Amino acid sequence: MEIRFAREEDLDQVNVLRKQVNDVHVEGKPEVFKPGFCDELRDYIHVIFADLRQKIVVADDGGAVCGFAVLNHITRPENPFMYVRDFLDIDEFAVDEGHRRQGIATAMIRFIRDYAREQGFSRVELNMWEFNQGALAFYEAAGFTTYRRYMEMKP
Ligand SMILES: CC(C)(COP(=O)(O)OP(=O)(O)OC[C@H]1O[C@@H](n2cnc3c(N)ncnc32)[C@H](O)[C@@H]1OP(=O)(O)O)[C@@H](O)C(=O)NCCC(=O)NCCS
Repeated sequence: MEIRFAREEDLDQVNVLRKQVNDVHVEGKPEVFKPGFCDELRDYIHVIFADLRQKIVVADDGGAVCGFAVLNHITRPENPFMYVRDFLDIDEFAVDEGHRRQGIATAMIRFIRDYAREQGFSRVELNMWEFNQGALAFYEAAGFTTYRRYMEMKP
């Protein structure tokens, strides 16, 4: 298993995993997420690939992409409430459903952490949907802690 940055020829396989994540989100929050995987979502991976502020990481098992992550360098200017913010955001993250609980996500986080340190980032951030308790358990096991929450109520 090799963790590396994606090449253009990996992107179709990355999209198979992106659809799996979308399916998880549709099942957990159907009032928010649209079912299926439209052409616009499929093609957007090429926009990400071409964007200098974003990077795609893949877990490559002998040519089969069995995990991926999208990293985004976020900068927010200072405002009256907050100092400048500059961090590495994990925007999308998944391991193929047939390859889970084998340490692949853990290896991807290790790779992302090493990259973040090497690039001088002081913080790696991500956000997730509360229904996704499996992902939460993974992120906590990987060392992430919750620092902010979104809350809702039915009026
Ligand atoms: C969350 C996800 C990335 C974890 O990937 P993975 O490769 O299976 O994770 P690892 O094998 O590295 O897991 C490491 C540890 O995390 C915890 N963990 C991982 N998945 C878990 C789950 N579903 N439930 C509880 N704990 C879990 C365990 O402590 C695990 O160690 P163990 O297997 O020795 O018990 C994967 O389940 C996934 O892709 N889910 C669907 C997509 C998704 O939800 N992505 C996140 C969107 S924000």
